[in-house]
Amino acid sequence: MYAVTLDGFGEPDVMRWAQVPDLPAPGPGEVLIDVAAAGVNRADLLQRQGFYPPPPGASELLGLECSGVIADVGAGVRDWRPGDRVCALLSGGGYAEQVLVPATALLPVPDGMDLAAAAALPEVSATVWSNLVMRAGLHAGQLLLIHGGGSGIGTHAIQVAVGRGARVAVTAGSQGKLDRCKELGANILINYREEDFVATLGEFGGADIILDNMGAAYLGRNVEALADDGQLCIIGMQGGIGGELNIAALLGKRGTIHATNLRRRPDTGRSSKAEIIAELRRQLWPSIADGTVIPVVSAEIPATEAPAAHRLLDSAGTIGKVILKIREP
Ligand SMILES: NC(=O)c1ccc[n+]([C@@H]2O[C@H](COP(=O)([O-])OP(=O)(O)OC[C@H]3O[C@@H](n4cnc5c(N)ncnc54)[C@H](OP(=O)(O)O)[C@@H]3O)[C@@H](O)[C@H]2O)c1
Repeated sequence: MYAVTLDGFGEPDVMRWAQVPDLPAPGPGEVLIDVAAAGVNRADLLQRQGFYPPPPGASELLGLECSGVIADVGAGVRDWRPGDRVCALLSGGGYAEQVLVPATALLPVPDGMDLAAAAALPEVSATVWSNLVMRAGLHAGQLLLIHGGGSGIGTHAIQVAVGRGARVAVTAGSQGKLDRCKELGANILINYREEDFVATLGEFGGADIILDNMGAAYLGRNVEALADDGQLCIIGMQGGIGGELNIAALLGKRGTIHATNLRRRPDTGRSSKAEIIAELRRQLWPSIADGTVIPVVSAEIPATEAPAAHRLLDSAGTIGKVILKIREP
């Protein structure tokens, strides 16, 4: 089969569309997918640079999510059959014509949804749902602040939060991104280049929950922006890994800080990917199926042009997800 391979670590041009060994038949509990498209994630950019090695046992190839059609199923797989349209959360290997995945990592692609667009769903939905709903218990009437509202994560989180009856504030670096966030249902729009989000959230009594992509750079100000009993969910470190925490400020508000990573969760068992996928299928997928929550795709780029896809994600020029098209099913 063909896949995006790495000719060493470094700039986007180390990626090549090249032949790699075919995969074996699926083992017990596994499914083989003919990949239609893969979502591009910031973690892929880090892996390409040599900073984010795959967890033990995972494919060395890039790609944390994909969509496609099931080619074959292993022993004991009862819920899925060849020909099913699926999307999947992966520990690696999505930038390839085929990928092997535990059946517990699959979600159905609803009839009528474009198969390539469905590759935009697994990583954002699992990250957002596991943090905002399973960890922080987001519910109606709460005020949620989403940093990077125009990101893949942000555009999905807005829709999930609105669906649960929450009020949504977002930060973004351009009016175009804020406009899109508004269309998706955000009602407090903050251009972080011009406005201090702490002051704005203060006018609303603080955020009950913050979904943060910036890590260290925003740690102190995020704690300031929390309401009493507020929860900060850190999922990204775009602003660095080592911040200083004002414990007095946090305990004065009875605040909580969560920090989670999706890729390193076990496939099954406690706090696993399978646990999140099962919750998604039960609770979020009806809204995906009826079109209330849509995949937000900024660009679809052929896998042969993977360097361009990485450059695009690394620019400020995307709203929503970048998709790598692998092949027509
Ligand atoms: N922990 C996990 O399991 C997990 C899983 C998936 C993703 N993530 C993380 O979640 C974050 C979002 O992922 P993604 O795939 O959605 O990335 P993405 O689409 O590349 O978005 C990154 C966003 O960061 C925004 N940004 C840059 N500087 C900012 C600032 N100072 N304040 C607020 N926003 C700023 C950019 O928008 P502007 O143009 O508006 O600046 C951009 O929209 C990344 O950090 C990623 O690593 C974590």
